[in-house]
Amino acid sequence: MTDSEIVSKTIQFVKETLADAEGGHDWFHIQRVYNNTLRLAEEEQVDGLVVRLGALLHDIADSKFHNGDETIGPKVAADFLASLNVDKATSEHVINIIENISFKSSLEALSSNKKFASRELEVVQDADRLDAIGAIGIARAFNYGGFKNRQLYNPEIAPEPNMTKEAYKKATGPTINHFYEKLLLLKDRMNTSTGKKLAQKRHQYMLDYLNQFDNEWNGLL
Ligand code: ADP
Ligand code: NI
Repeated sequence: MTDSEIVSKTIQFVKETLADAEGGHDWFHIQRVYNNTLRLAEEEQVDGLVVRLGALLHDIADSKFHNGDETIGPKVAADFLASLNVDKATSEHVINIIENISFKSSLEALSSNKKFASRELEVVQDADRLDAIGAIGIARAFNYGGFKNRQLYNPEIAPEPNMTKEAYKKATGPTINHFYEKLLLLKDRMNTSTGKKLAQKRHQYMLDYLNQFDNEWNGLL
């Protein structure tokens, strides 16, 4: 099978698998991350098939939607890639990307330093992070909060910006807190130079939004 046949079969598989996904983790999230990946990869020396498959499969079975189980996503992806006879080196690299891409696994990496690293992971991680910030990031955060029936904001519940991975997974705070616990931290964690540049603008948009939110909350505007 050619690389482009592998990619189109993967696109088909992801669309089917995510048909009923939460609105912020559906096929269109994957499509945006895929497009961001292609854009960032233009400036980087990376394996094109690995980054494309990593982007397409990175949320194939997110632990958030599987009772916290972090083994399902890598397993579903590994079985799928094996069914296409994708070579072992490519498949293992893609699995490593899926296992290490998320914000919570980077929290664990900070405290353990046992982590996988590659330029391909960095590109897909930046592509995913860009979709977590800016206007789309705001929409996704509130959609996820609604999906979990979280409060929009509660001035009595302070954000906890330095959570461990376990605390982060259990967090049930209001959605505005998620900005201080994750979304506003992302711009300083970008890996690629194009990613850093794009993140700046999206970050500023979130700051402006939070300022407006605060003013309206307090009846000032
Ligand atoms: P992680 O689960 O490691 O934070 P993801 O990249 O899977 O990483 O998170 C994806 C997106 O899901 C976040 O960027 C955000 O939009 C949404 N999300 C996750 N947790 C929350 C939360 N507690 N409140 C609001 N949105 C959230
Ligand atoms: Ni994602």
